[in-house]
Amino acid sequence: MITSPITPRRAVCATFVVAGMLTTGSYVLARSNLGKPTISESHWKVPARATKKKNPTKMSAANIAAGKTIFTTNCVMCHGVHGKGNGTAGSFLSHKPANLTTPAFWSQSPGVIFWKLTHGKTPMPAFRATLSRHKRWQVIDYMTSAFKPR
Ligand code: HEC
Repeated sequence: MITSPITPRRAVCATFVVAGMLTTGSYVLARSNLGKPTISESHWKVPARATKKKNPTKMSAANIAAGKTIFTTNCVMCHGVHGKGNGTAGSFLSHKPANLTTPAFWSQSPGVIFWKLTHGKTPMPAFRATLSRHKRWQVIDYMTSAFKPR
């Protein structure tokens, strides 16, 4: 007679292992939700002076090309190639990356966009330390040319 390699006892063990994995999984998910901002924190606290800041770079082909490289390296994983907020890493975050192609997004002044990517807001990283001012403006030049609705 051929006996099944899965004895009832093993099956019970396997059930416990799977149940354990599921419990751990939901615990990890629950923990990651703890990082979610509450309603009162969910707005960016952009200072008024930031709205007036002007873009010192020219929207030149060279700046746009440099900005595209910066966007590809630093932003695509969350915001997606087309800036729609659907990058592969974005799906693992406590909340969705912003869609950078909407009229609502572009109704903000460039100074506000600059301030947001300078300071970040969890899980959106701050780029103050990792991208120079010039590079932060170049990425805005690229986003303006590629994502701003006309
Ligand atoms: C780890 C994922 C991640 C990366 C990398 C990332 N972002 Fe974000 N970004 C987010 C999330 C999430 C939000 C939404 C934050 C919120 O509204 O609470 C956001 C929001 C923004 C906003 C504000 C959107 C609004 O509605 O005003 C801007 C601007 C932005 N990101 C630009 C960038 C740029 C430019 C880069 C690359 C230099 C970048 N982000 C990299 C996750 C990311």
